[in-house]
Amino acid sequence: MSRDELTKIILPEDKIPKFWYNIQADMPHPLEPGLHPQTHQPLAPSDLEPIFARELILQEVSSERFIEIPREIRELYKQYRPAPLFRARQLEAALQSNCRIYYKYEGVSPVGSHKLNTALPQVYYNKAQGIKRITTETGAGQWGTALALACKHFGLEAMIYMVKVSFYQKPYRRSIMELYGGRCIPSPSNLTESGRQALAKDPETPGSLAIAISEAVEDAVTRDDTNYSLGSVLNHVCLHQSIIGQEVKMQMEMVDDYPDIIIGCCGGGSNFAGIAFPFIPDKLAGMNIRLIAVEPTACPTLTQGVYAYDYGDVAGFTPLMKMYTLGHDFIPSGIHAGGLRYHGESPLVSRLYHDKLIEAVAVKQNPTFEAAVLFAQTESIVPAPESAHAIRVAIDEALKAREEGVSRTIVFNLSGHGHLDLFSYDKYLSGETEDVEFSDVELQESLRNLPQI
Ligand SMILES: Cc1ncc(COP(=O)(O)O)c(C=O)c1O
Repeated sequence: MSRDELTKIILPEDKIPKFWYNIQADMPHPLEPGLHPQTHQPLAPSDLEPIFARELILQEVSSERFIEIPREIRELYKQYRPAPLFRARQLEAALQSNCRIYYKYEGVSPVGSHKLNTALPQVYYNKAQGIKRITTETGAGQWGTALALACKHFGLEAMIYMVKVSFYQKPYRRSIMELYGGRCIPSPSNLTESGRQALAKDPETPGSLAIAISEAVEDAVTRDDTNYSLGSVLNHVCLHQSIIGQEVKMQMEMVDDYPDIIIGCCGGGSNFAGIAFPFIPDKLAGMNIRLIAVEPTACPTLTQGVYAYDYGDVAGFTPLMKMYTLGHDFIPSGIHAGGLRYHGESPLVSRLYHDKLIEAVAVKQNPTFEAAVLFAQTESIVPAPESAHAIRVAIDEALKAREEGVSRTIVFNLSGHGHLDLFSYDKYLSGETEDVEFSDVELQESLRNLPQI
C-alpha cells in the first residue's frame, strides 16, 4: 500500500523477529571491559554469576550479530507484538508540517511499556537455571510492573525497590505490581544496609535509581535462591529491545518510506537502543539518518556528563562501566519522568555517542509536558512522561523542517502510555511543575567521587 494510505501500520504475528540484533557485532570501536568493583581488574563472566543467569551473561559479552529468541518467548511476545507503527496524521496537521511523523507504540504491551520485551527473557533464563526469586529497582514503576508480570508468568517471586519519590507520585504502580503478585517497597528502605546508609545521610531523600539498585543487588547477593535483574543499561537489555527497531524497519518498508530521523527518550538507554540500533548498520553503510537520544535537563547524562568508568549504583556493588555519567551519587531532582532519573547511561549508547554515531538533546520538564498534551489532544494517546521527551524533540524537528521549507520522515519511540502518571499531569495542568536546570557546580560536586581508574 502507498505510504499515504495507511495510518496504522501493522505486521502479522509471523513477522515477530526470530533473532535479537546485537550491535556489538557492528560497533566501530568495541566496548571497554567492565571492571571488578573492588579490584578494578577486567571482569570475568564468572564475577557476574552471583547475581545474573549464565545465559544473560553470555549475551552480555557476545559479539554474535544475531541471537535466537527462544520459541517460548516469541509465543509470549505474540500477546502484544508486533507493536503498531502509527502515522501521526493529526499531529502533523496541528503542526502544519510537511514532515511525515510516525511513532512506534510500545504502550500496547499489557504493562504499558517496552519493558516487558526484556522482562520476559530475563525471567525465562533465570527460571531455566532454577532461580526462585528476583530482585530489582524501578523508577516510575514501569519496569517493576513488567518484572512482576514476568515473574508471575514463570512462577518466581519478585521483590521490587521503587524510588521513593515515584512511589508516592505513582501509587497505582505499586497496586499493579502487587496485583501481579510482586512485592514493592519504597527505596531507600530499612531492609538493606545500603538503604539504611542512604536514610542516615538524608532521611528526607527522594531516593534515586542508583540507591534502589544498591538495595536490590545487596538483597540478591545475600540469598542463594535469588538473582538480580536490571531493566535497562546493560548490553543484554539493549539486545532484547532490538525487536522494536527491527519491526520498525519492516513497517517502514510496508509504506515505502525510510526515516531521516529516529528519536527515543533516554534513561538507562534501552528503548532508544531498541529503536535506533537496528538502523546503525545502515548508517555505517552511508545512509543519511540521524539517531537522537533525548534526556531531561534535570539529569543530562549524555549532554553534560563525562565519559568515564563509574559504578551503576550508589554503594559501589556493581561493576565499573565505561559510560557517560553524572557521578554515581548524584541525586536528580524529583521530576515526573522517574524512569529518566539515572546518573549513568548504557555503555553501548555511550560508546556510540562518543563515536558520534548518535546525537543527544536535553529538554526541560514544562515544554515536555506541553508536547505531551498536544500529542494527547491530537493523537489521543496519553504518553508516559518519559516518552514525552521523544515527542518534544519530534515536534521540534518537524517545526524546524517547516521553517527550512523541507519535508522529513521522523520516527519516534512512544515507549509507554501515561495512564498511571495522571498525578503528574495534574501537577502540570495546575502549573506546579518546575523546569529544573542542572548547574556546573552541581556537576563538579557529583563528579568528585568518581572512581580513579
Ligand atoms: C515509559 C518509559 N520509557 C522510557 C524509560 C527509560 O528507560 P530506558 O532508557 O531504559 O528505555 C522508562 C523507564 O522507566 C519508561 O518507563
